[in-house]
Amino acid sequence: MMQDLKGKNILITGGGGNGLASGICKALDQNGAQLIINDVSENHFTNLRDKYPHAVFIQADISRAEEVEKIFEEIEKTVGKLDGLVNNAGIGLVEYAHKVDSIGFDKLYDVDVKGLWQVSKNFVNHLLKHDHLGNIVNVTSIHVLKTVGKYALYSSAKSAVEGLTRGMAVELGKNNIRVNSVGPGFVHSDQNIHLLQSLTDDPEKWVDDHVNHYQVVNRVMEPVKCGNVIAFLLSQLSEGVTGQSIYVDHGTSLMLYGNDFIKK
Ligand SMILES: NC(=O)c1ccc[n+]([C@@H]2O[C@H](COP(=O)([O-])OP(=O)(O)OC[C@H]3O[C@@H](n4cnc5c(N)ncnc54)[C@H](O)[C@@H]3O)[C@@H](O)[C@H]2O)c1
Repeated sequence: MMQDLKGKNILITGGGGNGLASGICKALDQNGAQLIINDVSENHFTNLRDKYPHAVFIQADISRAEEVEKIFEEIEKTVGKLDGLVNNAGIGLVEYAHKVDSIGFDKLYDVDVKGLWQVSKNFVNHLLKHDHLGNIVNVTSIHVLKTVGKYALYSSAKSAVEGLTRGMAVELGKNNIRVNSVGPGFVHSDQNIHLLQSLTDDPEKWVDDHVNHYQVVNRVMEPVKCGNVIAFLLSQLSEGVTGQSIYVDHGTSLMLYGNDFIKK
C-alpha cells in the first residue's frame, strides 16, 4: 500500500459496478483517498454505502451534459475540490460493425467517448477554476491493441479514448494535469457475464480456457489488480508519467497464439 492518496478527493465514474469499479474503489480506499462515487444506477450504491461510509455518492448519467454539470456542482458543495478522476463508466457493444444502426452506434459512443470527454472537460475546468493540479486515468481496454469479431465499434471507441488520453496529456502538461489510461484484459463483471452468456453455454469453462490458454500469467484477473495500477497513476509516484497507456491483461496482448500452440 502506498497511502500516497491520503485525503485526495477522487471521482470514479460508473463507480457502482461490480467489475472494474469494485477493484478501483478498493485500491483507492486502501491508499487513503476520499471516494466520490458516480453511477447511472442508484441501486448500485446500496451495498457500497456500508462498505464506504465516508464516500460521496452521486447518481448521474455521464452521457447527459446537464447531469455531468450537476456532478461537479455536487462536488463543490460536498468536498470542494477534486484531485483525481477515474473515467471508468462504460458500456459494451457486441455486434458486427456493418450490422449496427446509428442508434446503437450513438448509444455506445455517447457513454464511452462523448460521456468520458464531458466528464474530463468539466474536471479540467474545475481544476483550472481552483488553480489546482490533478490527474485523469481513463479506462480503455485490451481491444485497443487486439480484437475479435463483433468488437470493431467497441474497439474503435476505446481507441478514441486512447487518442484523447495522449492529446489531452499534451494540452494539459503545462497546467500540471496528467492524463493516462489503463487497458484491462478480461475481468469478471456484470457486463462480461451477460456477454459470456450470449457467446457460450458454459461461461465458467470459457473463463478457465481464457486464463489457461490466452494469458501469459495463468491467474484470474481480480479487479483490484487494475485498481492498484490506477492508484499508482493517480499518485505522485508516477509524476513523470503522462499520456501513457498501461495494459493490465496478464500478458494477453503479447501473445501471437494460445499457450497450446507448441505441443511438446
Ligand atoms: N470487465 C472487463 O473485462 C473489461 C475489460 C476491458 C475494459 N473494461 C472497461 O472497464 C470499465 C468498467 O466495465 P465493467 O466491465 O466493470 O462493467 P460494469 O457494467 O460492471 O460497470 C460499469 C458501470 O458503469 C455504469 N454506467 C454505465 N453507463 C453509465 C452512464 N451513462 N453514466 C454513469 N455510469 C454508467 C454502470 O451502471 C456500471 O455500474 C468500462 O469502461 C469497460 O469498457 C472492462
